[in-house]
Amino acid sequence: MKEKVLNFLYEKKEVSKKDIVSELGIDEKEFDKIIEKLKNYLKIHKDKYKLKNSHNLLLPSLIKSKLKTNYIGRNIYYFDIVDSTNLTAKKLAEKGEEEGTIVLAQVQTRGRGRENKEWISPKGGIWTSIILKPDIPAVNAPQITLMTAVAVAKTLKKLFKNLDVGIKWPNDVLIGNKKVCGILTESYSRNESLEYVIVGVGIDINVDINSFPIELQEGATSIKEELGKEVPLVDVLCEFLYEFEKVYEKFKAGKFQEILKEWRALSKTIGSYVEIRKKFGKRIRGEAVGVTKDGALILELDDGRLKKIFSGACIH
Ligand code: BTN
Repeated sequence: MKEKVLNFLYEKKEVSKKDIVSELGIDEKEFDKIIEKLKNYLKIHKDKYKLKNSHNLLLPSLIKSKLKTNYIGRNIYYFDIVDSTNLTAKKLAEKGEEEGTIVLAQVQTRGRGRENKEWISPKGGIWTSIILKPDIPAVNAPQITLMTAVAVAKTLKKLFKNLDVGIKWPNDVLIGNKKVCGILTESYSRNESLEYVIVGVGIDINVDINSFPIELQEGATSIKEELGKEVPLVDVLCEFLYEFEKVYEKFKAGKFQEILKEWRALSKTIGSYVEIRKKFGKRIRGEAVGVTKDGALILELDDGRLKKIFSGACIH
């Protein structure tokens, strides 16, 4: 019943006790008990009840009422605040948590990006990690990053038709030339067999980019920044999980080449002159002319040679 009240408030914006009680057919005592449990999320003024900051609410009951998936996100561990959803998901996977479970947080205090960089995770973003257990060789795990980028890019394109959404190799989703989403895939194997994969996804939705450290501001954007208004996180999350499940099913059916086709069509990297920054300060420049069937970037170097790049930070 708590879920019903929550969803009712979410849909109706502001309602009186009388309306809730009569519409949902509950008695006043039960209503008072539910309100006591929900009070941190409510604004109550003269017998009118309203959800606080409803655009940024990501409560599991709300998500479940809008979710269109079969198994991705059907099991949710939600935290108002957590160190990192990837770390939490790893602990859960170690204990045998099933495929499709997600960890979700409103705020991360130790959000992590690639190369162990900090990932700023204030209220207003989607910070989530998905536990996967695909039956694939461990060497193919990086393909999951590309697959996830396709799911995020398709979601944002579908929901926000006017935005210029694309993918930067290997794992960033951009709007124009600014980053709106990062993906951190971490896989764990024993004796070359993959035990589980944690796919961490951070999407800057209702986030104020000017609250970021100055050096990150120029290259980053958020949906709020692009649209000039906030959007409901729960809608974006549910659509993303839906797109993710579809593309993951294709992936498990061995259709990675079909996914790569979509990746290529969404890519902002192919056709651009880029610089790849590798470890120990090594840099490689060239025109990105394609990706291999495993998802490695193909660069045409200045002297005309072709080079496969398997990892590194890509600067457009
Ligand atoms: C990157 O672009 O460097 C990857 C960023 C990944 C951030 C997400 S937010 C949810 C999950 N938890 C983490 O600590 N990191 C990932």
